[in-house]
Amino acid sequence: MRPPSQGEAVLQEGIRNDAILSNSPGFLNRIYFILFIYGREQYLSAWLFGVEYSIFNMHRARITEIEQSVMTPRQIYFDHNATTPLHPEVKKEMVAAMEMFGNPSSMHTFGRQARANVEDARVRVAQFMGADESEIVFTGSGSEANNTVLSLFVCGSSQCIPGMKQTIITSRIEHPCVLETSKCLMHRGVGVKYLDVDPYGKIDLQQLDDLMTDDVGLVSVMMANNEIGTIQDIAAIAAIAHRNGAYMHTDAVQAFGKIPVDVRSLDVDFLTISGHKIYGPKGIGALYVRKGTPYCPFIRGGHQEKGRRAGTENTLGILGLARAVDMRVAEMEAEEDRLQAYRQLLREGIEDRIDDVFFNGHPADSLANTLNVSFPGAEGEAILLYLDLEGIAVSTGSACASGSLDPSHVLLATGVDAERAHGSIRISLGRDNTPEDIYTLLDVLPGVIRQIRNMSTAYMKGGIHASVR
Ligand SMILES: Cc1ncc(COP(=O)(O)O)c(C=O)c1O
Repeated sequence: MRPPSQGEAVLQEGIRNDAILSNSPGFLNRIYFILFIYGREQYLSAWLFGVEYSIFNMHRARITEIEQSVMTPRQIYFDHNATTPLHPEVKKEMVAAMEMFGNPSSMHTFGRQARANVEDARVRVAQFMGADESEIVFTGSGSEANNTVLSLFVCGSSQCIPGMKQTIITSRIEHPCVLETSKCLMHRGVGVKYLDVDPYGKIDLQQLDDLMTDDVGLVSVMMANNEIGTIQDIAAIAAIAHRNGAYMHTDAVQAFGKIPVDVRSLDVDFLTISGHKIYGPKGIGALYVRKGTPYCPFIRGGHQEKGRRAGTENTLGILGLARAVDMRVAEMEAEEDRLQAYRQLLREGIEDRIDDVFFNGHPADSLANTLNVSFPGAEGEAILLYLDLEGIAVSTGSACASGSLDPSHVLLATGVDAERAHGSIRISLGRDNTPEDIYTLLDVLPGVIRQIRNMSTAYMKGGIHASVR
């Protein structure tokens, strides 16, 4: 049994006194009364002591919280092109949906409830890109969606899709999940042609037209680049592909939710999106497949997604993705203007405070949240680590490529030399960033670059070590 608390003990004592003294009239009754009052007072003061003690504890917890926040400065996240934090509304919806465990393929109530939620999510995702819900296939990631589209050509050669033309055109600055897959397809007999880009990362429409031979079945060009933010004219590229009898795919993983994406006005046949780039969960993506377009599942062995992608649906991920899309509908436009202003502030601040800097990417046709900048004489990895010590997270390239010491294939394709490519960082802004975050980076960055350049024996400008300036 639980021992009595201090208050309860005092009250019990008072009750005991009550029992003893109730037999003693007169004088004893008065003592009883005094003791009774005394007991109550004791009880009251014990109770008040308890209240005071909890208030004290609350203050102590708050003081510790404040002390910790003073000792550990706010972490500033500038790596939204790698991934984004869950939107609080997405988190709320996913936590609530955790109780829902039914398999959408089951016919009982549990299954039917899950199915209804998945189909409702499909409508919301489709609407945001101007598609019909029947044209959306949920996948396990953006990478899987891209692999699915490119792999149609292997199906073509195995007569899954009779008459599929066996050559792909893609660009040199695609995400590795497109470049590596196309390289692999090449070894399996598929022809692959690569589009070059100009110094701003734009593809040349004339070169595309020139490469469009009769055997080209697919053109796959990303809508916005993950490293430098350059946005391509997908409608113009699709027009060239279609005029020459090829299908058009765009990897819109970085564009979707940041700029308007409408499959009808872009006139694409396939389009890829991913949940974790738009404040949704990781491990969920979707592929738009225009009605009537040849298709073959990449993951086989199940009737899910109308036979287009086997595997029990990631119901939580799908609901999270749909909620993230709802929040993009509400927030995207205002956010784009805000981030555009922050990026401008950042760009001008860097130019003002640091010598010898180069900005990569297109000055106008670019994602509002992405700034890629090179600091000759300072290694990107060193900058990243020094900033991390200051509580600021940036990136040196795509997350998938970091860890490798190869210079960014995107920057090399824009004509940047290997040394400048090595000295580049990507700052990708997001919905939680504030002007204070920008000023903090602008305060810290010049010192970081100076420190790294001072250690570089190679960094000389005009015969003088750069640190002298
Ligand atoms: C342009 C682009 N395509 C595809 C992907 C892959 O998406 P996921 O992480 O969902 O596989 C990424 C992720 O960084 C990306 O930036």
